[in-house]
Amino acid sequence: MSDVLYINGRFTTTAERVIGVEDRGFQFGDAVYEVFKFLGKRPIFLSEHFRRMETGLREIEIRVPWDESQFADVVRELLARTAFDDGIVYVQVTRGESERKHFYPDDLTPTTVAYSRAFTFPDAAKKARGVALIVADDLRWKHCNVKSVNLLANAIAKKKAQRAGADEALLIDDGLVREAASSSFFGIRNGAVITHPLDEHILPGVVRDRVVSLARANDIRVDERPLRETELFDLDEAFITSTTLGVMPVASIDGRTMRRGGITPKLQRLLVVGQFEGLLVTAPCGFGSS
Ligand code: PDD
Repeated sequence: MSDVLYINGRFTTTAERVIGVEDRGFQFGDAVYEVFKFLGKRPIFLSEHFRRMETGLREIEIRVPWDESQFADVVRELLARTAFDDGIVYVQVTRGESERKHFYPDDLTPTTVAYSRAFTFPDAAKKARGVALIVADDLRWKHCNVKSVNLLANAIAKKKAQRAGADEALLIDDGLVREAASSSFFGIRNGAVITHPLDEHILPGVVRDRVVSLARANDIRVDERPLRETELFDLDEAFITSTTLGVMPVASIDGRTMRRGGITPKLQRLLVVGQFEGLLVTAPCGFGSS
């Protein structure tokens, strides 16, 4: 099946081959991406995703191709052309196309791509069951705060998890738990939520940010500090978060069952409500008003 595709200002479908072989996103991984979800054709946390993309593009000196309202217009049209109501949107901005050289020209026109895709979000049973993790070395580059398409280390860690019959890999660097291969990680100990501080070792997850705020607003203490790998099995609860998973309990790590408690399900419920508040964030762009 082909999906509706936006490429460089026009709409087509993913059946069309659209990227040049000398696009720097293809040859150098010279690009950033975003994944956000939409429910009932309404994008969730759109503003937050746009701002993270803008910050990442600035950090690696790729021209920001849209302002927020132009981006919202692209998303609105993409979703209007989309045949289903719930799913995800994948957005990618590359530095653009030019003769293959490591030095990049300063004046390239970015390549911009976005497509929507149907997605089955975890149901109540899966959310109750949780996920199995393995630990893996964090072999990523040193700017993990940029949502770059250089996902080779993440993909290899994730494949290792799959081969072990697990769902996700927890990335360990220098004895410290950073995050998971495609999600943020949280531990809970003595009633406090512990998660890695925002720095170059982790992606500033949109859901992570929302969960931290929701926890604090509900009088749950949050300590933003790296957990040591040796602390993992002392945790009372653990969970991961992402756009596609929401809040997902960790059932086991490396085959060892993790303890479960009430804070993770509470945050799961709070996020579902928060998601709908998230719709309002997009109101100035015209999504929340109808
Ligand atoms: N992954 N950490 C990493 C390394 C990620 O790739 C992701 C998201 C997250 C969670 O971020 P957010 O809450 O903004 O979705 C954390 C996306 C979904 C992906 O690569 O498909």
